[in-house]
Amino acid sequence: MPKKFYITTPIYYTNNPPHVGSAYTTIAVDVLARYYRQKGKKVFFLTGTDEHGEKNAQAAKKANKSPQEFVDEIAKSFKETWRALDISNDDFIRTTEPRHIKGAQKFLSALKKSGKIYQGKYEGLYCIGCEKFITKKELADGKCPDHQKAPKKVSETNYFFKLSDFLDRVKKLISHDKIKIEPLERKNEVLALLKQGLEDFSISRQKVKWGIPLPFDKKQISYVWVEALVNYITAIGYGSNQKKFNQLWPADLHLIGKDILKFHALYWPALLLAVGLKPPRKIFVHGFLTADGQKMSKTLGNVIDPIYLADKYGVDALRYFLLREIPFGQDGDFSIKRLEERYNADLANGLGNLVSRVLTLSEKAGNFPVIASERKRAKQSRRKNELIKGVKSTQKKYKKALEKIKFHEALEVIWRLISACDEFIEKNKPWTLISEQRTANSEQKLKEILLSLLLSLKEIAVLLRPFMPATSEKILSQIKLNKKTEVLFPRL
Ligand code: MSP
Repeated sequence: MPKKFYITTPIYYTNNPPHVGSAYTTIAVDVLARYYRQKGKKVFFLTGTDEHGEKNAQAAKKANKSPQEFVDEIAKSFKETWRALDISNDDFIRTTEPRHIKGAQKFLSALKKSGKIYQGKYEGLYCIGCEKFITKKELADGKCPDHQKAPKKVSETNYFFKLSDFLDRVKKLISHDKIKIEPLERKNEVLALLKQGLEDFSISRQKVKWGIPLPFDKKQISYVWVEALVNYITAIGYGSNQKKFNQLWPADLHLIGKDILKFHALYWPALLLAVGLKPPRKIFVHGFLTADGQKMSKTLGNVIDPIYLADKYGVDALRYFLLREIPFGQDGDFSIKRLEERYNADLANGLGNLVSRVLTLSEKAGNFPVIASERKRAKQSRRKNELIKGVKSTQKKYKKALEKIKFHEALEVIWRLISACDEFIEKNKPWTLISEQRTANSEQKLKEILLSLLLSLKEIAVLLRPFMPATSEKILSQIKLNKKTEVLFPRL
Protein backbone atom coordinates (compact mmCIF):
# COMPACT_ATOMS: atom_id res chain seq x y z
CA MET A 1 0.00 0.00 0.00
CA PRO A 2 1.49 3.39 -0.90
CA LYS A 3 1.93 5.70 2.05
CA LYS A 4 -0.55 8.55 2.35
CA PHE A 5 0.60 12.13 2.35
CA TYR A 6 -2.00 14.68 3.43
CA ILE A 7 -0.91 18.23 2.66
CA THR A 8 -2.81 21.50 2.98
CA THR A 9 -2.74 25.20 2.18
CA PRO A 10 -4.45 27.61 4.57
CA ILE A 11 -7.98 28.39 3.43
CA TYR A 12 -8.14 31.86 1.95
CA TYR A 13 -10.46 34.66 3.00
CA THR A 14 -13.08 35.48 0.42
CA ASN A 15 -13.05 39.22 0.98
CA ASN A 16 -11.01 39.58 -2.20
CA PRO A 17 -10.01 37.44 -5.19
CA PRO A 18 -6.61 35.71 -5.03
CA HIS A 19 -3.44 37.70 -5.49
CA VAL A 20 0.12 36.66 -6.10
CA GLY A 21 0.69 36.24 -2.31
CA SER A 22 -2.06 33.63 -2.07
CA ALA A 23 -0.78 32.02 -5.25
CA TYR A 24 2.65 31.74 -3.62
CA THR A 25 1.44 29.41 -0.83
CA THR A 26 -0.72 27.41 -3.22
CA ILE A 27 2.01 26.90 -5.82
CA ALA A 28 4.43 25.79 -3.09
CA VAL A 29 2.01 23.13 -1.86
CA ASP A 30 1.31 22.09 -5.44
CA VAL A 31 5.01 21.47 -6.11
CA LEU A 32 5.26 19.25 -3.02
CA ALA A 33 2.05 17.41 -3.91
CA ARG A 34 3.32 16.71 -7.41
CA TYR A 35 6.73 15.67 -6.12
CA TYR A 36 5.34 13.17 -3.62
CA ARG A 37 2.85 11.81 -6.17
CA GLN A 38 5.76 11.26 -8.54
CA LYS A 39 7.51 9.40 -5.75
CA GLY A 40 4.54 7.06 -5.47
CA LYS A 41 2.87 8.41 -2.33
CA LYS A 42 -0.88 8.56 -2.06
CA VAL A 43 -1.14 12.33 -1.89
CA PHE A 44 -4.21 14.21 -0.75
CA PHE A 45 -3.82 17.91 -1.44
CA LEU A 46 -6.43 20.20 0.10
CA THR A 47 -7.05 23.88 -0.42
CA GLY A 48 -10.16 26.02 -0.04
CA THR A 49 -11.81 29.22 1.14
CA ASP A 50 -12.54 30.71 4.56
CA GLU A 51 -15.89 32.35 3.97
CA HIS A 52 -17.44 33.33 7.30
CA GLY A 53 -16.76 36.13 9.78
CA GLU A 54 -16.74 39.89 9.87
CA LYS A 55 -14.07 40.43 7.27
CA ASN A 56 -16.00 38.61 4.56
CA ALA A 57 -19.36 40.06 5.67
CA GLN A 58 -17.99 43.62 5.53
CA ALA A 59 -16.58 43.07 2.04
CA ALA A 60 -19.97 41.77 0.86
CA LYS A 61 -21.72 44.81 2.31
CA LYS A 62 -19.31 47.12 0.57
CA ALA A 63 -20.10 45.39 -2.72
CA ASN A 64 -23.84 45.69 -2.02
CA LYS A 65 -24.28 41.95 -2.11
CA SER A 66 -25.54 39.34 0.31
CA PRO A 67 -22.65 37.53 2.04
CA GLN A 68 -23.52 34.23 0.34
CA GLU A 69 -23.77 35.77 -3.10
CA PHE A 70 -20.48 37.57 -2.57
CA VAL A 71 -18.48 34.60 -1.27
CA ASP A 72 -19.87 32.39 -4.05
CA GLU A 73 -18.32 34.74 -6.58
CA ILE A 74 -14.96 34.97 -4.84
CA ALA A 75 -14.74 31.22 -4.21
CA LYS A 76 -15.33 30.75 -7.93
CA SER A 77 -12.48 33.11 -8.76
CA PHE A 78 -10.16 31.12 -6.45
CA LYS A 79 -11.11 27.88 -8.18
CA GLU A 80 -10.59 29.41 -11.60
CA THR A 81 -7.24 30.91 -10.65
CA TRP A 82 -5.94 27.60 -9.32
CA ARG A 83 -7.00 25.86 -12.53
CA ALA A 84 -5.23 28.52 -14.56
CA LEU A 85 -2.06 28.10 -12.49
CA ASP A 86 -2.06 24.32 -12.97
CA ILE A 87 -2.77 23.58 -9.31
CA SER A 88 -3.45 19.88 -8.78
CA ASN A 89 -5.53 19.98 -5.58
CA ASP A 90 -7.57 16.88 -4.82
CA ASP A 91 -10.31 18.79 -3.04
CA PHE A 92 -11.46 22.34 -2.43
CA ILE A 93 -13.31 23.00 0.81
CA ARG A 94 -15.61 25.98 1.27
CA THR A 95 -16.59 26.75 4.84
CA THR A 96 -20.15 27.52 3.74
CA GLU A 97 -20.62 23.95 2.47
CA PRO A 98 -22.94 21.64 4.44
CA ARG A 99 -20.16 19.06 4.98
CA HIS A 100 -18.08 21.70 6.73
CA ILE A 101 -20.92 23.16 8.78
CA LYS A 102 -21.91 19.68 9.96
CA GLY A 103 -18.34 18.73 10.86
CA ALA A 104 -17.64 22.05 12.56
CA GLN A 105 -20.74 21.66 14.73
CA LYS A 106 -19.70 18.14 15.66
CA PHE A 107 -16.31 19.51 16.64
CA LEU A 108 -17.81 22.35 18.71
CA SER A 109 -20.08 19.90 20.53
CA ALA A 110 -17.11 17.65 21.26
CA LEU A 111 -15.22 20.64 22.59
CA LYS A 112 -18.11 21.56 24.90
CA LYS A 113 -18.30 17.96 26.08
CA SER A 114 -14.59 18.00 26.93
CA GLY A 115 -15.39 20.44 29.73
CA LYS A 116 -12.79 22.90 28.47
CA ILE A 117 -15.26 25.59 27.45
CA TYR A 118 -16.49 28.29 29.80
CA GLN A 119 -18.44 31.51 29.49
CA GLY A 120 -16.68 34.80 30.06
CA LYS A 121 -16.62 38.44 29.17
CA TYR A 122 -14.23 39.71 26.57
CA GLU A 123 -13.16 43.30 26.63
CA GLY A 124 -10.42 44.43 24.35
CA LEU A 125 -9.33 45.11 20.80
CA TYR A 126 -10.13 43.21 17.62
CA CYS A 127 -8.48 43.51 14.21
CA ILE A 128 -10.99 42.57 11.51
CA GLY A 129 -8.19 42.27 8.93
CA CYS A 130 -6.53 39.51 11.00
CA GLU A 131 -9.83 38.31 12.45
CA LYS A 132 -8.13 38.22 15.82
CA PHE A 133 -8.11 39.79 19.24
CA ILE A 134 -5.06 41.92 19.47
CA THR A 135 -3.18 43.41 22.40
CA LYS A 136 -1.95 46.99 22.71
CA LYS A 137 1.61 45.64 22.68
CA GLU A 138 1.12 44.23 19.19
CA LEU A 139 0.10 47.59 17.70
CA ALA A 140 2.39 50.04 15.93
CA ASP A 141 1.24 53.67 16.20
CA GLY A 142 -2.11 52.39 17.40
CA LYS A 143 -2.57 50.32 14.23
CA CYS A 144 -2.31 46.62 13.34
CA PRO A 145 1.10 46.37 11.65
CA ASP A 146 -0.16 43.92 9.00
CA HIS A 147 -3.27 45.86 8.01
CA GLN A 148 -2.35 49.46 8.90
CA LYS A 149 -5.76 49.89 10.53
CA ALA A 150 -6.79 50.71 14.07
CA PRO A 151 -8.51 47.75 15.76
CA LYS A 152 -12.02 48.13 17.09
CA LYS A 153 -13.03 47.95 20.75
CA VAL A 154 -15.05 44.89 21.60
CA SER A 155 -16.96 44.15 24.75
CA GLU A 156 -19.09 41.02 24.75
CA THR A 157 -19.90 37.85 26.58
CA ASN A 158 -18.73 34.77 24.78
CA TYR A 159 -17.29 31.31 25.25
CA PHE A 160 -13.65 30.70 26.00
CA PHE A 161 -11.42 27.68 25.49
CA LYS A 162 -9.12 26.62 28.34
CA LEU A 163 -5.98 26.79 26.26
CA SER A 164 -3.87 26.89 29.38
CA ASP A 165 -4.81 23.28 30.23
CA PHE A 166 -3.05 22.04 27.07
CA LEU A 167 0.03 24.19 26.80
CA ASP A 168 2.38 21.81 28.61
CA ARG A 169 1.44 18.96 26.32
CA VAL A 170 1.70 21.10 23.21
CA LYS A 171 5.09 22.38 24.34
CA LYS A 172 6.37 18.84 24.76
CA LEU A 173 5.08 17.79 21.36
CA ILE A 174 6.78 20.75 19.70
CA SER A 175 10.06 20.44 21.61
CA HIS A 176 10.31 16.74 20.69
CA ASP A 177 9.36 17.39 17.06
CA LYS A 178 6.23 15.30 17.36
CA ILE A 179 4.71 18.40 15.84
CA LYS A 180 7.63 19.45 13.70
CA ILE A 181 7.78 23.18 13.14
CA GLU A 182 10.11 24.37 10.41
CA PRO A 183 12.25 26.37 9.75
CA LEU A 184 13.94 26.14 13.15
CA GLU A 185 13.59 29.85 13.92
CA ARG A 186 9.80 29.45 13.72
CA LYS A 187 9.91 26.57 16.18
CA ASN A 188 11.91 28.80 18.50
CA GLU A 189 9.41 31.60 18.01
CA VAL A 190 6.58 29.30 19.10
CA LEU A 191 8.56 28.07 22.10
CA ALA A 192 9.23 31.69 23.07
CA LEU A 193 5.50 32.45 22.85
CA LEU A 194 4.86 29.51 25.16
CA LYS A 195 7.41 30.82 27.60
CA GLN A 196 5.72 34.23 27.68
CA GLY A 197 2.44 32.49 28.45
CA LEU A 198 -0.82 32.62 26.54
CA GLU A 199 -4.30 33.49 27.57
CA ASP A 200 -7.38 31.37 26.99
CA PHE A 201 -9.08 32.45 23.81
CA SER A 202 -12.63 33.13 22.80
CA ILE A 203 -14.23 30.56 20.50
CA SER A 204 -17.43 32.46 19.76
CA ARG A 205 -18.73 35.89 18.83
CA GLN A 206 -21.94 37.42 20.03
CA LYS A 207 -22.44 40.32 17.70
CA VAL A 208 -21.32 38.74 14.47
CA LYS A 209 -24.05 37.15 12.38
CA TRP A 210 -22.24 35.60 9.38
CA GLY A 211 -21.02 32.25 10.65
CA ILE A 212 -21.85 28.87 12.13
CA PRO A 213 -24.06 28.94 15.24
CA LEU A 214 -22.72 27.15 18.30
CA PRO A 215 -24.67 23.92 18.69
CA PHE A 216 -25.01 24.54 22.44
CA ASP A 217 -25.95 28.23 22.24
CA LYS A 218 -27.54 29.31 18.99
CA LYS A 219 -27.29 33.00 19.90
CA GLN A 220 -23.56 32.88 19.40
CA ILE A 221 -21.61 32.01 16.31
CA SER A 222 -18.30 30.19 16.16
CA TYR A 223 -15.20 32.39 16.11
CA VAL A 224 -14.08 32.31 12.49
CA TRP A 225 -10.57 31.02 13.29
CA VAL A 226 -11.79 27.98 15.22
CA GLU A 227 -14.17 27.15 12.43
CA ALA A 228 -11.48 27.74 9.79
CA LEU A 229 -8.91 25.44 11.40
CA VAL A 230 -11.49 22.71 11.56
CA ASN A 231 -11.61 22.69 7.73
CA TYR A 232 -8.54 20.45 7.76
CA ILE A 233 -10.66 17.67 9.25
CA THR A 234 -14.15 18.39 7.91
CA ALA A 235 -12.82 18.23 4.33
CA ILE A 236 -11.56 14.70 4.83
CA GLY A 237 -14.72 13.36 6.40
CA TYR A 238 -14.86 14.42 10.07
CA GLY A 239 -18.59 14.37 10.76
CA SER A 240 -19.44 12.83 7.40
CA ASN A 241 -17.07 10.04 6.34
CA GLN A 242 -15.26 8.43 9.26
CA LYS A 243 -13.43 5.88 7.08
CA LYS A 244 -11.85 8.52 4.89
CA PHE A 245 -11.01 10.59 7.94
CA ASN A 246 -9.24 7.66 9.61
CA GLN A 247 -7.22 7.05 6.46
CA LEU A 248 -6.00 10.61 6.10
CA TRP A 249 -5.70 12.20 9.54
CA PRO A 250 -3.29 13.44 10.94
CA ALA A 251 -2.15 15.90 8.33
CA ASP A 252 1.41 15.28 7.21
CA LEU A 253 2.03 18.91 6.42
CA HIS A 254 0.26 22.21 6.93
CA LEU A 255 2.06 24.83 4.87
CA ILE A 256 1.32 28.35 6.12
CA GLY A 257 2.50 31.96 6.09
CA LYS A 258 4.23 33.39 9.15
CA ASP A 259 1.25 35.57 10.11
CA ILE A 260 -0.85 32.58 11.10
CA LEU A 261 1.74 30.58 13.02
CA LYS A 262 0.22 30.95 16.48
CA PHE A 263 -3.15 29.68 15.32
CA HIS A 264 -1.66 26.60 13.65
CA ALA A 265 1.13 25.72 16.05
CA LEU A 266 -0.62 26.40 19.37
CA TYR A 267 -4.38 26.84 19.11
CA TRP A 268 -4.95 24.06 16.59
CA PRO A 269 -3.01 21.28 18.38
CA ALA A 270 -4.62 22.28 21.70
CA LEU A 271 -8.12 22.17 20.20
CA LEU A 272 -7.41 18.77 18.66
CA LEU A 273 -6.04 17.37 21.90
CA ALA A 274 -9.14 18.60 23.73
CA VAL A 275 -11.41 16.47 21.53
CA GLY A 276 -9.03 13.50 21.54
CA LEU A 277 -7.61 13.85 18.03
CA LYS A 278 -3.99 13.69 16.96
CA PRO A 279 -2.17 16.94 16.17
CA PRO A 280 -0.67 17.55 12.70
CA ARG A 281 2.77 16.05 12.03
CA LYS A 282 4.45 19.05 10.53
CA ILE A 283 3.94 22.76 10.00
CA PHE A 284 6.17 24.59 7.57
CA VAL A 285 6.15 28.36 7.73
CA HIS A 286 7.03 30.63 4.84
CA GLY A 287 7.66 34.36 4.68
CA PHE A 288 5.82 37.16 2.90
CA LEU A 289 5.98 38.33 -0.64
CA THR A 290 6.48 42.02 -0.24
CA ALA A 291 6.24 45.04 -2.49
CA ASP A 292 8.75 47.70 -1.48
CA GLY A 293 9.25 45.90 1.81
CA GLN A 294 5.55 45.75 2.76
CA LYS A 295 3.47 42.58 2.85
CA MET A 296 1.50 42.27 -0.34
CA SER A 297 -2.14 42.38 0.60
CA LYS A 298 -5.35 43.64 -0.87
CA THR A 299 -6.01 45.70 2.24
CA LEU A 300 -2.77 47.59 1.64
CA GLY A 301 -3.59 47.87 -2.06
CA ASN A 302 -0.25 46.62 -3.37
CA VAL A 303 -1.24 43.31 -4.92
CA ILE A 304 -0.68 41.87 -8.37
CA ASP A 305 -3.12 39.55 -10.13
CA PRO A 306 -1.47 36.16 -10.75
CA ILE A 307 -3.59 35.60 -13.87
CA TYR A 308 -2.22 38.78 -15.39
CA LEU A 309 1.33 37.53 -14.70
CA ALA A 310 0.59 34.06 -16.03
CA ASP A 311 -0.95 35.48 -19.20
CA LYS A 312 1.99 37.77 -19.80
CA TYR A 313 4.91 35.49 -18.88
CA GLY A 314 3.41 32.00 -18.88
CA VAL A 315 2.15 29.90 -15.97
CA ASP A 316 5.37 27.94 -15.63
CA ALA A 317 7.51 31.05 -15.65
CA LEU A 318 5.47 32.47 -12.77
CA ARG A 319 5.62 29.20 -10.82
CA TYR A 320 9.36 29.03 -11.40
CA PHE A 321 10.05 32.62 -10.49
CA LEU A 322 8.11 32.61 -7.21
CA LEU A 323 9.99 29.61 -5.90
CA ARG A 324 13.41 30.39 -7.36
CA GLU A 325 13.76 34.02 -6.42
CA ILE A 326 13.16 33.95 -2.68
CA PRO A 327 14.61 31.34 -0.32
CA PHE A 328 11.48 29.62 0.95
CA GLY A 329 10.84 30.63 4.54
CA GLN A 330 12.18 34.16 4.19
CA ASP A 331 10.44 37.36 3.11
CA GLY A 332 11.26 38.66 -0.32
CA ASP A 333 10.32 41.50 -2.59
CA PHE A 334 8.31 40.65 -5.67
CA SER A 335 9.41 42.66 -8.65
CA ILE A 336 8.46 42.49 -12.30
CA LYS A 337 11.99 43.58 -13.18
CA ARG A 338 13.46 40.52 -11.43
CA LEU A 339 10.84 38.28 -13.01
CA GLU A 340 11.84 39.52 -16.45
CA GLU A 341 15.54 39.15 -15.67
CA ARG A 342 15.09 35.58 -14.51
CA TYR A 343 12.80 34.83 -17.41
CA ASN A 344 15.48 35.89 -19.87
CA ALA A 345 18.51 34.48 -18.10
CA ASP A 346 17.22 31.20 -16.67
CA LEU A 347 14.32 30.20 -18.86
CA ALA A 348 14.97 31.61 -22.33
CA ASN A 349 18.78 31.60 -22.38
CA GLY A 350 19.35 28.76 -19.93
CA LEU A 351 16.76 26.03 -20.28
CA GLY A 352 15.21 27.03 -23.61
CA ASN A 353 18.54 27.45 -25.30
CA LEU A 354 19.83 24.08 -24.11
CA VAL A 355 16.73 22.25 -25.30
CA SER A 356 16.89 23.78 -28.75
CA ARG A 357 20.66 23.23 -29.00
CA VAL A 358 20.40 19.53 -28.17
CA LEU A 359 17.41 18.94 -30.41
CA THR A 360 19.05 20.78 -33.31
CA LEU A 361 22.29 18.86 -32.92
CA SER A 362 20.47 15.59 -32.74
CA GLU A 363 18.44 16.48 -35.83
CA LYS A 364 21.55 17.55 -37.74
CA ALA A 365 23.17 14.28 -36.82
CA GLY A 366 20.23 12.64 -38.54
CA ASN A 367 18.29 11.56 -35.43
CA PHE A 368 20.10 8.30 -35.92
CA PRO A 369 18.52 5.36 -34.23
CA VAL A 370 20.38 3.86 -31.33
CA ILE A 371 19.60 0.24 -31.74
CA ALA A 372 19.24 -2.25 -28.93
CA SER A 373 22.51 -4.03 -29.71
CA GLU A 374 24.34 -0.83 -28.85
CA ARG A 375 22.77 -0.69 -25.45
CA LYS A 376 25.64 -2.32 -23.65
CA ARG A 377 28.26 -0.09 -25.12
CA ALA A 378 26.22 3.00 -24.39
CA LYS A 379 25.75 1.86 -20.82
CA GLN A 380 29.47 1.40 -20.35
CA SER A 381 30.27 4.80 -21.75
CA ARG A 382 27.60 6.33 -19.59
CA ARG A 383 29.32 5.09 -16.53
CA LYS A 384 32.53 6.83 -17.51
CA ASN A 385 30.93 10.00 -18.68
CA GLU A 386 31.28 13.06 -16.39
CA LEU A 387 27.94 14.52 -17.40
CA ILE A 388 26.02 11.36 -16.53
CA LYS A 389 27.87 11.04 -13.25
CA GLY A 390 26.69 14.58 -12.50
CA VAL A 391 23.10 13.52 -13.10
CA LYS A 392 23.24 11.07 -10.22
CA SER A 393 24.49 13.66 -7.75
CA THR A 394 21.95 16.16 -9.07
CA GLN A 395 19.17 13.72 -8.24
CA LYS A 396 20.42 13.26 -4.70
CA LYS A 397 20.83 16.96 -4.00
CA TYR A 398 17.46 17.76 -5.54
CA LYS A 399 15.68 15.18 -3.40
CA LYS A 400 17.38 16.41 -0.25
CA ALA A 401 16.47 20.03 -1.00
CA LEU A 402 12.83 19.29 -1.79
CA GLU A 403 12.32 17.11 1.23
CA LYS A 404 13.58 19.98 3.36
CA ILE A 405 11.18 22.27 1.42
CA LYS A 406 14.04 24.32 0.01
CA PHE A 407 12.58 24.99 -3.40
CA HIS A 408 15.19 27.53 -4.45
CA GLU A 409 17.96 25.01 -3.76
CA ALA A 410 16.25 22.25 -5.72
CA LEU A 411 15.94 24.60 -8.69
CA GLU A 412 19.51 25.78 -8.32
CA VAL A 413 20.68 22.17 -8.54
CA ILE A 414 18.74 21.65 -11.79
CA TRP A 415 20.25 24.78 -13.26
CA ARG A 416 23.72 23.58 -12.39
CA LEU A 417 23.02 20.52 -14.51
CA ILE A 418 21.85 22.79 -17.33
CA SER A 419 25.17 24.65 -17.16
CA ALA A 420 27.05 21.36 -17.06
CA CYS A 421 25.29 20.33 -20.28
CA ASP A 422 26.29 23.60 -21.93
CA GLU A 423 29.90 23.10 -20.84
CA PHE A 424 29.81 19.52 -22.10
CA ILE A 425 28.67 20.73 -25.52
CA GLU A 426 31.40 23.38 -25.63
CA LYS A 427 34.04 20.88 -24.60
CA ASN A 428 33.05 18.08 -26.95
CA LYS A 429 32.07 20.22 -29.94
CA PRO A 430 29.68 17.66 -31.43
CA TRP A 431 29.12 19.88 -34.50
CA THR A 432 32.66 19.12 -35.70
CA LEU A 433 31.76 15.45 -35.75
CA ILE A 434 28.58 16.14 -37.67
CA SER A 435 30.22 18.10 -40.46
CA GLU A 436 33.16 15.70 -40.90
CA GLN A 437 33.04 12.71 -43.14
CA ARG A 438 31.97 10.31 -40.43
CA THR A 439 34.11 7.31 -39.63
CA ALA A 440 32.78 4.47 -37.49
CA ASN A 441 34.73 5.97 -34.63
CA SER A 442 33.45 9.51 -34.93
CA GLU A 443 29.94 8.22 -35.43
CA GLN A 444 30.21 6.31 -32.16
CA LYS A 445 31.59 9.35 -30.36
CA LEU A 446 28.81 11.52 -31.69
CA LYS A 447 26.22 9.03 -30.52
CA GLU A 448 27.69 8.96 -27.06
CA ILE A 449 27.74 12.73 -26.77
CA LEU A 450 24.19 13.14 -27.98
CA LEU A 451 22.91 10.28 -25.91
CA SER A 452 24.46 11.77 -22.77
CA LEU A 453 22.85 15.11 -23.56
CA LEU A 454 19.46 13.60 -24.29
CA LEU A 455 19.62 11.57 -21.10
CA SER A 456 20.50 14.66 -19.09
CA LEU A 457 17.75 16.63 -20.74
CA LYS A 458 15.28 13.94 -19.88
CA GLU A 459 16.43 14.08 -16.28
CA ILE A 460 16.14 17.86 -16.24
CA ALA A 461 12.57 17.56 -17.52
CA VAL A 462 11.67 14.94 -14.92
CA LEU A 463 13.09 17.02 -12.07
CA LEU A 464 11.33 20.11 -13.34
CA ARG A 465 7.98 18.37 -13.57
CA PRO A 466 6.60 19.40 -10.15
CA PHE A 467 7.62 23.03 -10.71
CA MET A 468 6.84 23.50 -14.39
CA PRO A 469 4.51 20.69 -15.40
CA ALA A 470 3.64 21.87 -18.92
CA THR A 471 7.24 22.78 -19.83
CA SER A 472 8.43 19.43 -18.57
CA GLU A 473 5.87 17.54 -20.66
CA LYS A 474 6.83 19.57 -23.70
CA ILE A 475 10.51 18.70 -23.34
CA LEU A 476 9.73 15.04 -22.77
CA SER A 477 7.52 14.87 -25.82
CA GLN A 478 10.18 16.56 -27.95
CA ILE A 479 12.73 14.00 -26.85
CA LYS A 480 10.29 11.19 -27.48
CA LEU A 481 10.30 12.11 -31.16
CA ASN A 482 13.39 10.00 -31.30
CA LYS A 483 11.72 6.79 -30.20
CA LYS A 484 14.65 4.46 -30.69
CA THR A 485 16.90 6.62 -28.54
CA GLU A 486 14.32 6.64 -25.85
CA VAL A 487 14.58 2.91 -25.22
CA LEU A 488 18.01 3.49 -23.82
CA PHE A 489 16.90 5.92 -21.16
CA PRO A 490 17.36 4.41 -17.77
CA ARG A 491 14.67 4.82 -15.17
CA LEU A 492 16.00 7.88 -13.40
N1 MSP B 1 -8.24 32.52 6.44
C1 MSP B 1 -6.99 32.56 7.10
C2 MSP B 1 -6.33 31.19 7.17
C3 MSP B 1 -7.14 30.12 7.80
S1 MSP B 1 -6.34 28.57 7.72
C4 MSP B 1 -7.20 27.59 8.71
C5 MSP B 1 -6.04 33.50 6.37
N2 MSP B 1 -6.35 33.77 5.10
S2 MSP B 1 -5.51 34.75 4.16
O1 MSP B 1 -6.18 34.74 2.90
O2 MSP B 1 -5.33 36.01 4.78
O3 MSP B 1 -4.09 34.13 4.05
C6 MSP B 1 -3.91 32.82 3.62
C7 MSP B 1 -2.45 32.51 3.39
O4 MSP B 1 -1.92 33.33 2.37
C8 MSP B 1 -1.59 32.72 4.62
O5 MSP B 1 -0.67 31.65 4.74
C9 MSP B 1 -0.85 33.97 4.31
O6 MSP B 1 0.37 34.04 4.94
C10 MSP B 1 -0.71 33.84 2.80
N3 MSP B 1 -0.43 35.11 2.20
C11 MSP B 1 -1.27 36.18 2.07
N4 MSP B 1 -0.55 37.22 1.58
C12 MSP B 1 0.73 36.83 1.39
C13 MSP B 1 1.88 37.44 0.93
N5 MSP B 1 1.91 38.70 0.55
N6 MSP B 1 3.01 36.69 0.86
C14 MSP B 1 3.04 35.36 1.22
N7 MSP B 1 1.97 34.77 1.67
C15 MSP B 1 0.80 35.49 1.78
O7 MSP B 1 -5.09 33.94 6.97
